[in-house]
Amino acid sequence: MAISSTQAVPETGAIPEHVAIIMDGNGRWATRRHLPRTAGHAKGVQAVRRVVEACGRAGVRYLTLFAFSSENWRRPADEVSLLMRLFVQALEREVDKLQDQGVRLRVVGDLSPFEPRLRELIDAAQARTAHNDRLNLSIAANYGGRWDVLQATRAMLAARPELAADPRRIEEAELASHLSMSWAPEPDLFIRTGGEQRISNFLIWQLAYTELYFTDLYWPDFGAEALEAAFEWYRTRERRFGRTSAQVRGDAPR
Ligand code: FPP
Repeated sequence: MAISSTQAVPETGAIPEHVAIIMDGNGRWATRRHLPRTAGHAKGVQAVRRVVEACGRAGVRYLTLFAFSSENWRRPADEVSLLMRLFVQALEREVDKLQDQGVRLRVVGDLSPFEPRLRELIDAAQARTAHNDRLNLSIAANYGGRWDVLQATRAMLAARPELAADPRRIEEAELASHLSMSWAPEPDLFIRTGGEQRISNFLIWQLAYTELYFTDLYWPDFGAEALEAAFEWYRTRERRFGRTSAQVRGDAPR
């Protein structure tokens, strides 16, 4: 069953165990430079590399990146196919490096509409890195939080059809165990680049108690230094999970 990070108050001042990022602003980064939007995505891949390395060094255990949302299919066809190509290239070129860095890769989302070649590469990369445990890198691709809650509900009822006749027996933890990232603790820190302050149907269930950090930097400009600034901000937060400040400080009954 999923370990929920809302069950206990984590140590304050710690590096977040799970960081989830919406990598926004690639298109605007490129447009500002009179480049095609696709150049921004290519630059975005370099930022992914920097952030994976920096998280590994800092001791983050889980890093989840929103690479392609269920809604991104609405973009112009050539942009969608460029994103798919970048994804294939990254899987072909970067897996050795992930392996050297002890990174376990997983891709989460509804992978059924992706080309067979991409799905094979995903399967191979996941299998190859399955024994690594330094950093768990998850790429959310054709992912949507509502899709996730819906697929979890369907999976739960398929596994235990008797629950449909008596829905009061459905426990939160049982549904959560069918979410696509049930093996990970909930994110401690959410980062969105690009200046918008929205969750945009990312991990809607899992972000319930997450600290939310927004920066105006465009994703291609994000790197180790910007990540450290987000961690510094995170260290100043007091996470209460519904408790009082006194309880969290330990000078009142827990
Ligand atoms: C948002 O910027 C970014 C995306 C929709 C795609 C993110 C993809 C990458 C960083 C590259 C591929 C990733 C991997 C893991 C290989 P936007 O296009 O919405 O920017 P805008 O808001 O400025 O238009």
